[in-house]
Amino acid sequence: MAANEADIKIWGLGVGPGDPELITLKALRILQAADVIAYPAPDGADSLVRAIAATHMPVGAEEMIISTPMVTERHPAQNAYDEAAGQIDEHARAGKTIAILCEGDPFFYGSFMYLYSRLSENWRVGVVPGVSSLNAGAAELGVPLAERNDVVSVIPATLDEADLAERLAAADAAVIIKVGRHLDKVRRVLEAEGLAAGARYIERATMDGQRIASLDDMSDQKAPYFSLIIVRKAADI
Ligand SMILES: C[S@@+](CC[C@H](N)C(=O)[O-])C[C@H]1O[C@@H](n2cnc3c(N)ncnc32)[C@H](O)[C@@H]1O
Repeated sequence: MAANEADIKIWGLGVGPGDPELITLKALRILQAADVIAYPAPDGADSLVRAIAATHMPVGAEEMIISTPMVTERHPAQNAYDEAAGQIDEHARAGKTIAILCEGDPFFYGSFMYLYSRLSENWRVGVVPGVSSLNAGAAELGVPLAERNDVVSVIPATLDEADLAERLAAADAAVIIKVGRHLDKVRRVLEAEGLAAGARYIERATMDGQRIASLDDMSDQKAPYFSLIIVRKAADI
C-alpha cells in the first residue's frame, strides 16, 4: 500500500473491460478489503460490472446497488448520483471503506466521475485506473493503435455525420465508441471517407460472447452497447 493511501475511505476501482483477470493487483487488494462494495446497475437489470468482479468479491462485504435510470435526459441520472453519493458519504462517516466498481477505466467515459465530483468535495477519493475498452479492443483485434507521431482519436458514434467525418479525417487512428444504434451512420461515414475496408469491429471485448468482424462483412443495422470500431490508417512498421 502506498504510504499516503491510509486515509482514503472511498475508492473508484477500474475492474477492466470484462475478463476478470484484467483487474490490477491494486484494485483487487482494495476491493477485497472493502466494507461496502458499490456498483451501478441500469434500472432493474443485472450489473455488468458486478459480474466482471464476481469471482473477486469478498465474502461478507455489504453490497450497494447504484440504480442508474436508462434515460437520455440528465435530470433523473443526476438525482440517482446525488442519492448514491449521500449513501456513500454516510458509510464513510461511519468509518467504513467503500469500493465503487467501474467497468474499464473509471475516468474514461465512466459514470463514476459523477460520483467523484460530488464526493471529492468532502473526501479524498482514490482512483485506481483500469484496462479500458480501448486497450482491450486493440489487443483482441491485433491492431496496434499508435506509433511515432500518430494522433489517435476517440470518437463517440453519437456525433453527427459531419463531425464524425471531420474527426476521422484528422486522425491517424480512431476508436469509435458507443456504436450501438449508430452503426449504420458510422458505416456510411466510413464508406464515404474510404475507410470502411480497414475498419475492425469488436463487441463485448474480453467478455463472454466476444465477437470480432470486419465492418465490410457485417450486415447488422445495430450493434450492442458494448461495441467499438477501430480504424487504423496506413501504418509505417
Ligand atoms: C460509457 S463508455 C465506458 C468506457 C469504459 N469506462 C472503458 O474504460 O472502456 C461505454 C462504451 O465503451 C465501449 N466499451 C466498453 N467496454 C467494452 C467492451 N468490453 N467491448 C467493447 N466496447 C466496450 C463501448 O463503445 C461502450 O459504448
